[in-house]
Amino acid sequence: MRVPSTLYRGPAVSAKIVTIIPESETRLPSKSRSVIAIYPGSFDPITNGHLDLIQRGSRLFDRLIVSVLSNDTKAPLFSAAERMEMLREVVGVYPNVEVDSFNGLLVDHAAGRSAAVVLRGIRAISDYEYELQMALMNRRLCPQLETVFLLANEAYSFISSRLVKQVFGLGGNISGLVPPSVEKRLQRRMSKAKRKGA
Ligand code: PNS
Repeated sequence: MRVPSTLYRGPAVSAKIVTIIPESETRLPSKSRSVIAIYPGSFDPITNGHLDLIQRGSRLFDRLIVSVLSNDTKAPLFSAAERMEMLREVVGVYPNVEVDSFNGLLVDHAAGRSAAVVLRGIRAISDYEYELQMALMNRRLCPQLETVFLLANEAYSFISSRLVKQVFGLGGNISGLVPPSVEKRLQRRMSKAKRKGA
């Protein structure tokens, strides 16, 4: 079957090939709507790798909500309120970025904030499996929510909050790995812990 020439003016192709998926059946938000993205994480504490992703995400999306998981099972060093405070201290320069927190399912939080996108960073192939699992689980729970991955800037691809805390705790130099305000907070937190232990 040929496509009627009144509808299609390109070279002759079969109707099967030019089938157009109605917009209502695609998952991507329509282009006219402003796109809100959520960047979820533990951020215990925020590193320069996270900050790089926030800066790049703020250019891609109309609004970016950086959301701290507050009921983290990983026994964080900083409380959710402290982690949010540290984030707010450094994202203030981006007018379309805000900080929030959530408990429970990420997909529920995203729906509550009308977000169409979850933003995550991938540093190395070792991140991929964990991220793929989460993205596919989130897609199963909420097919409309898209996960968008950005590759970490190579300058930060080896940084993790866990390693920053470990290196700092053992007296190593972490300048350039976290924002200066975070480094100061880590110093205060560690000396408080030392005083308690003494
Ligand atoms: O920075 P992290 O610790 O790698 O972030 C993990 C996070 C917060 C994105 C993930 O643990 C999460 O989304 N938790 C909420 C619980 C949830 O929705 N689970 C189902 C999907 S995996």
